[in-house]
Amino acid sequence: MRRTSSIWLVSVSGVGLGVMLSACASTQEGAESAAIPPSEETLALGAGAYRQAMCFKCHGDDGRGTARGPDLTDSEWLHTNGSVAGIETVMRQGVSKEKMKDSSRPFGMNPVTNMINDDATIEALAVYVKSLSTS
Ligand code: HEC
Repeated sequence: MRRTSSIWLVSVSGVGLGVMLSACASTQEGAESAAIPPSEETLALGAGAYRQAMCFKCHGDDGRGTARGPDLTDSEWLHTNGSVAGIETVMRQGVSKEKMKDSSRPFGMNPVTNMINDDATIEALAVYVKSLSTS
């Protein structure tokens, strides 16, 4: 009799644990689909591309802007809504001199595809630029 009840207890706690684990897993999935934090790898790829494509020459080493290009770290966006997709679009299109908001800047911005050919790298660069900004 004693033996039977302890087996019953073990199996009940086993079920309890299973329920707890699956509850945790589903909470995590929900959080991930709301906002996926960029991986270290993506940010490293994007940071490398920022240097390789010479974005820093106009936007500064830390993205805070120079006389040649605007600050990318603030919450103010001139040509995009600041989403990763919006940033990617403006990077791909570039900004011609006619479209520039601040005409005191000496050059427009060339399309990123002049410098980088690989979609995954361009996407990582957009994620990296997004990570610099406050919104
Ligand atoms: C020759 C200088 C120059 C280089 C190099 C350059 N940019 Fe720009 N960038 C600009 C200018 C100028 C603007 C538009 C500023 C304006 O409208 O007054 C701009 C705008 C942007 C914007 C839109 C900002 C906003 O507020 O909407 C993003 C994003 C951006 N650049 C990212 C990049 C990235 C990433 C690279 C590297 C691939 C890069 N830029 C290289 C000069 C440059």
